[in-house]
Amino acid sequence: MLVTGASRGIGAAIARAFAARGCTLGLVARNREPLEALAAELPGSGHVVLPANVADAGSVAAAVAQFGPVDVLVANAGVTHYMPFAELPADKAEQMNSVNWVGTLNSVWAALPGMLERRRGHVVVISSGGGVRGFPGAAVYNGTKAAQRGFAEALRHELHGTGVSVTTVYPGEIETALHDHEWERMPAWYQRDRRSPPGPLGEAIVEAVEKDRRELFHPPIVRLLRVVNGISPALGDVMLRRILGRAAAPRRR
Ligand SMILES: NC(=O)c1ccc[n+]([C@@H]2O[C@H](COP(=O)([O-])OP(=O)(O)OC[C@H]3O[C@@H](n4cnc5c(N)ncnc54)[C@H](OP(=O)(O)O)[C@@H]3O)[C@@H](O)[C@H]2O)c1
Repeated sequence: MLVTGASRGIGAAIARAFAARGCTLGLVARNREPLEALAAELPGSGHVVLPANVADAGSVAAAVAQFGPVDVLVANAGVTHYMPFAELPADKAEQMNSVNWVGTLNSVWAALPGMLERRRGHVVVISSGGGVRGFPGAAVYNGTKAAQRGFAEALRHELHGTGVSVTTVYPGEIETALHDHEWERMPAWYQRDRRSPPGPLGEAIVEAVEKDRRELFHPPIVRLLRVVNGISPALGDVMLRRILGRAAAPRRR
């Protein structure tokens, strides 16, 4: 199986959880050293370090070709820049788009033909709670995560009967390095730091693949947000104000 953004955080937790079940991992990220450290630490053998940039279709295709047949692909690599859209520099918006969204397409494009040929495979797309409900300060990031949701929902149906399936994952606040470069910019409600550790999410993703689940919400409050916000975004506002405070949904109409 192959995980993008494998070198730390959620990707490393996914790699650890699958390696513990005996899987051989292809580990993709831009920087080689942390991938080598992870590969050396994983149980089992034969894990392959694949430095690649998912924003570059040729780079991720070469990584997949080097690895060989992919039975499970986890499109996990992602970046964020949290700030109001009016202040967001175009290059930062472009990076989120090309890594989170186009990077997902590039990864699936690279691995899917082989899966279809073998009539066997599973694609996991790591979206976000921000993909089911937008948060102020994350307009573009949330847009990339909602795009992943729409893509993965359609793809799962398109692949019906092919032997290939798709699971979409909606993590809430997880303790990783994702916001380390912008911690001082994060809203007060985020800095209260209610993040969950990534290990249990990695385990839950293994189970979701084994059971061919359509969606995984982790922690479960993200599912409640999806349900409430789906019924009424105004009710979603109330829920977020209750849990996170007014800054999470400041506008009342
Ligand atoms: N943490 C959360 O609270 C949370 C919540 C919801 C969703 N998510 C999603 O979960 C995914 C993983 O995030 P994380 O929290 O684990 O972040 P993280 O700790 O910052 O890890 C990001 C990973 O992506 C890799 N990466 C970044 N740009 C890349 C590129 N262009 N090509 C290939 N790899 C690249 C990084 O390695 P290199 O820098 O070496 O490339 C690293 O391995 C992301 O899609 C994120 O949006 C996270």
